[in-house]
Amino acid sequence: MDIVVVLFCLILTGPTTLLVTAVSTGAPAKSDSFTPQDNYLLDCGATNQTTLPDKRVFLSDQNSTKFLSYSGRDIQVSVPSADVPLPIYRSAKVFVSDATYSFHMARPGWHWVRLHFYPVNNNEFNLQHSKFTVTLDTLVLLHEFSINDAKWFVKEYLVNVTTERFSLKFSPVKGSSAFINAIEVVSAPDILIADSGSALFPVAQQSGLSKYSYETVYRLNCGGPVISSQNDTLGRTWGSDGSFLKPGLAAKNVSVAPNIVSYPDGGSPLIAPPSVYASAIEMENANVTTPNFNVTWNLDIDSSFTYLVRLHFCDIVSKSLNDLYFNVYIGGKMAISGLDLSTETGGLAMAYYKDFIVNTSMVSPPLTVQVGPMNENTGMKNAILNGLEVLKINNSVNSLDGEFGVDGKTASNPTRGTVAAVGFAMMFGAFVGLGAMAVKWRKRPQDWRKRNSFSSWLLPLHAGDSSFMSSKTSLGSRKSNFYSSTTGLGRYFSFAELQEATKNWDPNAVIGVGGFGNVYIGEIDDGTQVAVKRGNPQSEQGINEFQTEIQMLSKLRHRHLVSLIGYCDENSEMILVYEFMSNGPLRDHLYGKNLPSLSWKQRLEICIGAARGLHYLHTGAAQGIIHRDVKTTNILLDDNFIAKMADFGLSKDAPTTEQTHVSTAVKGSFGYLDPEYFRKQQLTDKSDVYSFGVVLLEVLCARPALNPALPREQVNLAEWAMQWKRKGLLDKIIDPILAGVINPESMKKFAEAAEKCLAEYGVDRPTMGDVLWNLEYALQLQEASSQGKAEDENKVFAAAASPATVTPAPAAASTSDNRPISSPEESKNPAEVQVIDEHSGTAMFAQFAALNGR
Ligand SMILES: *[C@@H]1O[C@H](CO)[C@@H](O)[C@H](O)[C@H]1NC(C)=O
Ligand SMILES: *[C@@H]1O[C@H](CO)[C@@H](O)[C@H](O)[C@H]1NC(C)=O
Ligand SMILES: *[C@@H]1O[C@H](CO)[C@@H](O)[C@H](O)[C@H]1NC(C)=O
Ligand SMILES: *[C@@H]1O[C@H](CO)[C@@H](O)[C@H](O)[C@H]1NC(C)=O
Ligand SMILES: *[C@@H]1O[C@H](CO)[C@@H](O)[C@H](O)[C@H]1NC(C)=O
Ligand SMILES: *[C@@H]1O[C@H](CO)[C@@H](O)[C@H](O)[C@H]1NC(C)=O
Ligand SMILES: *[C@@H]1O[C@H](CO)[C@@H](O)[C@H](O)[C@H]1NC(C)=O
Ligand SMILES: *[C@@H]1O[C@H](CO)[C@@H](O)[C@H](O)[C@H]1NC(C)=O
Ligand SMILES: *[C@@H]1O[C@H](CO)[C@@H](O)[C@H](O)[C@H]1NC(C)=O
Repeated sequence: MDIVVVLFCLILTGPTTLLVTAVSTGAPAKSDSFTPQDNYLLDCGATNQTTLPDKRVFLSDQNSTKFLSYSGRDIQVSVPSADVPLPIYRSAKVFVSDATYSFHMARPGWHWVRLHFYPVNNNEFNLQHSKFTVTLDTLVLLHEFSINDAKWFVKEYLVNVTTERFSLKFSPVKGSSAFINAIEVVSAPDILIADSGSALFPVAQQSGLSKYSYETVYRLNCGGPVISSQNDTLGRTWGSDGSFLKPGLAAKNVSVAPNIVSYPDGGSPLIAPPSVYASAIEMENANVTTPNFNVTWNLDIDSSFTYLVRLHFCDIVSKSLNDLYFNVYIGGKMAISGLDLSTETGGLAMAYYKDFIVNTSMVSPPLTVQVGPMNENTGMKNAILNGLEVLKINNSVNSLDGEFGVDGKTASNPTRGTVAAVGFAMMFGAFVGLGAMAVKWRKRPQDWRKRNSFSSWLLPLHAGDSSFMSSKTSLGSRKSNFYSSTTGLGRYFSFAELQEATKNWDPNAVIGVGGFGNVYIGEIDDGTQVAVKRGNPQSEQGINEFQTEIQMLSKLRHRHLVSLIGYCDENSEMILVYEFMSNGPLRDHLYGKNLPSLSWKQRLEICIGAARGLHYLHTGAAQGIIHRDVKTTNILLDDNFIAKMADFGLSKDAPTTEQTHVSTAVKGSFGYLDPEYFRKQQLTDKSDVYSFGVVLLEVLCARPALNPALPREQVNLAEWAMQWKRKGLLDKIIDPILAGVINPESMKKFAEAAEKCLAEYGVDRPTMGDVLWNLEYALQLQEASSQGKAEDENKVFAAAASPATVTPAPAAASTSDNRPISSPEESKNPAEVQVIDEHSGTAMFAQFAALNGR
């Protein structure tokens, strides 16, 4: 082998490395149902109780003494149930003078008040043109309201009840009548309205929101179907947004299964159910030539009021973290600049919402909500919105309808804009209520949106790992926590020693840069070359990873893992010394660096070595370890092209079965990341298997896992290569150097292994042991063919090369596919490969050792 030896970096943490931490995925089960303490459901004018299809029982209001006091006559009107959308609309109570329902409240706080109006046909009254006012104590709900041409109306209010008793009063305009079909007065959870939101125009933080009363004007599930009240534990109906989308500009629906959606710590499905977050509107073509347009919703509103606009977001469109940045505008003004949901929530498919107070006296109707890509060249040119709620806030005379208060006072700002309550009234037939509800009242005092604002870099990677948590204060204690409690950390270096070794941290000696700091090449003692990784003490994230790596490496010794030689913690430094891998990362030998090409056999041996390293991580250590950042820059080659896995900074012990819901950090690199890991955010060793599958393709095709410069369908290697593989034409896209040299059977076996690794679901992927077996088999096939052609310039391979053994019958091959590999070096006892000599740490690894004992 005639290899130009190039000194290259030991550990590359390129700019593509993702380091974003999930905020406790699937932590303690979020209570997604709610039992209201006050739960009045009245079917007005009915002679008996009425059960809705969703099993809710509306009692008759006939026992007037309990609920109703009036100063006139009330009349029941009714029609056969076949004629109405819901059985509660069969009857109505009609008042020709003032009438009051009184309710006793078991618990103060937020309550839904829902009023159902359906103008029941009858001979005596023309309910369609009844005109009346409805007040709730001192709050005006409806002022001289008439249903007019609408078929029916459901009005929904959210009020903070502070008194033990409140009354709902119906007052017909002189000469007219008032009517009501059904009334709901139901407790709502405290968390529903936080006390503060971002005020727009002027931009400020506005508090005191819990003192206002609200009327739901719009509640839309963007890009998805109507969510009826029975699918929302709070009995809310979420309409479809299609009719509010501004036509002409391309927007499209996107949706995922609701069970993919998760809520960050402190979040709650009571804010909005998963089905709201599971669908969204996104830009039609996220990659059009002129991607700069906004997706716009136009909402008619009465501009004399102030509104609470609540926007729901959930990144169900990105393939990787921090890929989506967009702006949000309300009323044409910037509401959120560069919203990055990955950073806000720490993950994909995680629920997020934000409240805005919109004083519409500053904008003219219609109210617009817009999302559009940031004017930058980074990330995906896309923007999304999952849900949209617009709640009207009472005005200064405590009215939600018009400028007159209960006491006849007029609002100071009498300009009235377009009044349109269409949005909510259109959800015909969808109002079927607060279905089965269980689970206790649960107070959630903290506002989870605030908790999401901190930098994801600072999240404790090892929450629950006491040795890390207790090591925050001083290096002294850190030392005692890490170093003395672990073994095999090797030699202690003085700072001066390393300073000399790196020629006083010569910038020219830097061979790698990462979030943790720099990696230098150095020379110790008799001239042994080492890689010196010097942590940047300013970087909390770096120190976390640093500490992880020490702990990992101290436990792990394997011929296919980069070895730690020693460390230094003098002067607040965190320095690790590794064996130097003179041939650098595998990637450099595949493309981009003009190094001599590797032969197919070399590539197979390197893949086998890396697979052994991973297999050892998964199964060999006391507990399984997941590498989490398997990629071709983390596979390093020594003098003899022996592959070793590097960079355990991201490694984390595999969760045991009891702990699968423990919060995990979503980490990895673009192009290599297991899609299932993204969806579920549950880490398993099969995520490494997926990434390794990408590595195999990279080795075969000699191109990057992700190349944004290529045409769209070719950007992602895994997707592109699998398309060709399915067509049986994978050989069309392999590294041209290999064409003709590679044995077709060997390549077939290799490609099969890659394909299995890339299976959509982790359970369908092989273990690293299985992968290893397949790669060894591919190597044997290659060797047999080269030997047959007498082309092999290397050693003669004894048993393995004999045609009889390398061409097993298909049946035998398929059964052995599942056989886990265990060769002596996979031994669970690290001591076997642990021999670290203080003075020549690298020396013992420097010999070429043939693979698999040959
Ligand atoms: C009222 O409903 C109950 C149970 O649904 C039924 O047994 C009863 O006969 C009904 N009464 C009238 C007057 O319809
Ligand atoms: C009215 O109240 C009485 C006793 O309080 C009860 O037995 C009856 O079922 C109630 N009637 C209706 C229609 O709810
Ligand atoms: C309701 O209003 C009262 C008084 O303004 C306030 O103390 C209370 O916190 C509010 N309740 C909720 C659930 O916000
Ligand atoms: C989006 O979904 C909604 C509700 O399912 C549907 O009404 C609408 O037609 C869909 N729009 C497109 C462009 O597919
Ligand atoms: C609503 O719930 C019903 C069953 O309760 C289910 O069949 C239906 O798919 C749900 N719809 C949505 C939009 O989640
Ligand atoms: C998106 O809308 C905002 C506010 O209306 C506007 O300032 C911006 O120019 C729009 N962007 C594009 C690309 O039209
Ligand atoms: C809305 O703006 C007007 C004019 O600036 C102001 O008088 C009013 O108090 C504002 N309303 C709210 C709720 O902030
Ligand atoms: C809504 O009513 C409350 C009290 O009833 C009052 O304090 C508040 O100022 C009103 N809201 C606005 C925007 O004026
Ligand atoms: C987006 O389009 C540009 C120009 O057409 C292209 O270079 C780029 O690869 C595309 N990106 C994706 C992710 O498809």
